[in-house]
Amino acid sequence: MNTKVQVQICVGTACHIMGAADLITIEDLLAEPLRERVEIKGVTCIGLCKDEVHGKPPFVIIEGQMLAEATLDKVLRRIEMCVERLADRR
Ligand code: FES
Repeated sequence: MNTKVQVQICVGTACHIMGAADLITIEDLLAEPLRERVEIKGVTCIGLCKDEVHGKPPFVIIEGQMLAEATLDKVLRRIEMCVERLADRR
């Protein structure tokens, strides 16, 4: 079982232009205890930008859940929630 919160940041062209370039630096913004519990990866286009049903880029997948129009603030909050949830499961 993976004990780290899995974060995939789409760095495809549409997401990059719409803000993923900033999102990919999020690891630097995480406080030390949080950083150890999160695994952040940049991924190529995950296909969600192809139609509008999924919302607008940039897209981030956190623990399998898609976040559209992701901002640093939204992603940080979602990561904190997931880390707390993981801690509760132990
Ligand atoms: S570029 Fe991010 S979903 Fe396509």
